[in-house]
Amino acid sequence: MMTEHTGITGVGVCIFCVFWASVCIAQLEEINYDESRVPEYTLPDPLVMQDGRTVVDAHMWTEERRPEILRLFEEQVYGKSPGRPDSMSFVMQSDVSGVLDGRAIRRQVTVLLSEQADGPRMNILIYIPTDQIRPIPILLGMNFYGNHTIHPDAGILLTDQWLRNSETFGITDHRASDASRGVRSGRWPVVRILERGYALATIYYGDIDPDFDDGFQNGVHPLFYTEGQTKPKPDEWGSIAAWAWGLSRAMDYFEMDPDIDHSRVAVMGHSRLGKTALWAGAQDERFALVISNDSGCGGAALSRRRFGETVERINTSFPHWFCENFHRYNDREDTLPVDQHMLIALIAPRPVYVASAEDDLWADPYGEFLSVQHADPVYRLLGTDGIPVSEMPQIEHPVMGTMGYHIRSGVHDVTYYDWERFMDFADKHLK
Ligand code: GCU
Repeated sequence: MMTEHTGITGVGVCIFCVFWASVCIAQLEEINYDESRVPEYTLPDPLVMQDGRTVVDAHMWTEERRPEILRLFEEQVYGKSPGRPDSMSFVMQSDVSGVLDGRAIRRQVTVLLSEQADGPRMNILIYIPTDQIRPIPILLGMNFYGNHTIHPDAGILLTDQWLRNSETFGITDHRASDASRGVRSGRWPVVRILERGYALATIYYGDIDPDFDDGFQNGVHPLFYTEGQTKPKPDEWGSIAAWAWGLSRAMDYFEMDPDIDHSRVAVMGHSRLGKTALWAGAQDERFALVISNDSGCGGAALSRRRFGETVERINTSFPHWFCENFHRYNDREDTLPVDQHMLIALIAPRPVYVASAEDDLWADPYGEFLSVQHADPVYRLLGTDGIPVSEMPQIEHPVMGTMGYHIRSGVHDVTYYDWERFMDFADKHLK
């Protein structure tokens, strides 16, 4: 739960928190981690239209079924997003060569999302290796605590947006400071990425929409309200869709930067940002490759399995992530016109890689693999080799066709092992 309440007030127990705690405990008890208790379910067939017609060829997929599935995800799951704002502009904040011991160019670009200089904006931090031929392929991923947390490099600009407080990361008063420079470097092997011949770009996701439920008053949503509108309509974008939209705005920038090969952009994300990367890659076909790490419920995991986090649980804990319509499916996953294998199918025939962690049962590793497997018929219809296995791979036995998958030992995290596999997969498809 994201609450500032401690549960105990000066004079006694806070009734509000006791209520929430009991709700949470009741929900926790319902969480299933037992494979034998996964309900029987029937997945919607990605190759059967809603009117019952079978998709017979690539043309029918591209012209009819793909747009139908995309619309269903927009209207029922993530919400519809606006396009690129006409008044958007880019400001080069700094462009310095020879950083990271001479290895890189560090470029920081502010994307002004409206005509107001003090309006919503996001900072893209880009490292480009100096010893590689340009234009270069790039890995793009959002971060959780600010660009300055991915590396101790003192030249990284601090965000002025709201951050989640964290004692571990030295964040107080919801503001960025020098105290948290590099605190998340364990998740971002910057130098290794450059060595392997990729540029890296990252954006703090809260620049687009701070991650708490404020009824969509801050962040980018209000920029697009029509006269009198105060929150998104039931089929309009929640926060995940807004973050995904931000990734597409970064792509708009890459199209203008001659050092970056915008035809070789891999979008990657972990956890809620893995859900975000998948939705960005599903909608925006300019992304050449998509990587989901431990994305779980509302990401790569099949909702109908109700293993680990469920639709009801995610919509209760994070009411702002999906569109309002998605809340209709709380405890009614079987009535969803889509499931998450169809999100993966929207990326076809572009390469997609899904990664899970053995102990991350909350995200349902097997459900993440099954999504890949059930999207495979679409990849094959489009003439690729899909996922070249018929069973879930063993721990640390990555599989890489046009679709890729690995499960590693350990917990919910992004590790060096994960990055190495992402880059092996990218080497296969982007080099
Ligand atoms: C919570 C949430 C998950 C999400 C994760 C994260 O655990 O329930 O759905 O993926 O946070 O983003 O770290």
